[in-house]
Amino acid sequence: MKEHTTTRRAPGRNEPCWCGSGRKYKKCHASADAPGRRAAPAGGLDLRVGDRVRPGRVSPPRPLPATIVRPPYIANDGEPLQARVPARPRTPDEIARMRRAGRAAREVLVGLGDHVRPGITTDELDRIAHEHAIRLGAYPSPLGYHGYPKSICTSVNEIICHGIPDDRPLADGDIMNVDVTLYLDGVHGDTSMMFCVGEVSPDCRRLIAVTERALLAGIGAARAGNQVRDIGKAIQQVAEADGLGVVRAFVGHGVGPEFHSEPTVYHYYEPDARARLEPGMTFTVEPMLNLGTWRHTMWDDNWTAVTADLAPSAQFEHTILVREDGVELLTVVEGAEQPFLAG
Ligand code: MF3
Ligand code: CO
Ligand code: CO
Repeated sequence: MKEHTTTRRAPGRNEPCWCGSGRKYKKCHASADAPGRRAAPAGGLDLRVGDRVRPGRVSPPRPLPATIVRPPYIANDGEPLQARVPARPRTPDEIARMRRAGRAAREVLVGLGDHVRPGITTDELDRIAHEHAIRLGAYPSPLGYHGYPKSICTSVNEIICHGIPDDRPLADGDIMNVDVTLYLDGVHGDTSMMFCVGEVSPDCRRLIAVTERALLAGIGAARAGNQVRDIGKAIQQVAEADGLGVVRAFVGHGVGPEFHSEPTVYHYYEPDARARLEPGMTFTVEPMLNLGTWRHTMWDDNWTAVTADLAPSAQFEHTILVREDGVELLTVVEGAEQPFLAG
């Protein structure tokens, strides 16, 4: 996801809440917005995870055969050629290529499930994904993007996103998001999901289940004719009904020939996101939900985003296509269900 940096002035306590509920701010999101808030119930959460995650050793970037076509930013020091690329409906040919890129990314992601177990390092998962991408003829988009050093993102426990694979072995009770983006045939497919390592606490299982439900609610709201803000509204409703925090600093994004383009897809209700969703648009929905506060801090590596209270975080991501007849999931394996298409 992209980092989203503009911030909103908090409303006055007696002003209408920013979320559009129509209630006064103090009766609605004031306490949820307050710094240092912890959602932990009395007695604390039963997290059953070990100590906080510490930065480990990162292995050198992995090589690729010269036959793998690099995305354009690789020839430009990892910087995209254009900072802000407007949203544009895709051509039928681009859509056909995005189905292939999306399917390839999902295959690599799902394939990692066979390897997740206590003791394996996230660096080994990175190697497995990297080699799988090469076998599919694809470039692992994160590698070198804005200087990112590895081929996938692995975000364990309190890591919200952009965790860098390293030599930390996974431990019993860990939860982990793995985010795979592949560049194939000139377009990107971007997808992520959660994995449980051994026996995971009930609170973490609930966090993961609600986050996946929030993703699907958001995708369901991405129908042609709706507005971008309907997506975040649906996600936020699912999250807050369960008392979970919605991360605001990282957003979904247009995806296609560019890794990140417009539209910016907020995962919370953003009243100003009035852009209409049109057939042919492709973008990601990738909500990050937290067991505690939605606020984050950054590791010194300037990539790894962690929850401010170190409570666990979960995320799921699909690349989707808005169609006249519904919403198509592009990041699915061959023959997968399409719950948002008629028929
Ligand atoms: N795949 C991430 C997303 O969902 C982006 C990762 S960029 C990286 O947008 F540089 F951190 F890899
Ligand atoms: Co993304
Ligand atoms: Co992603």
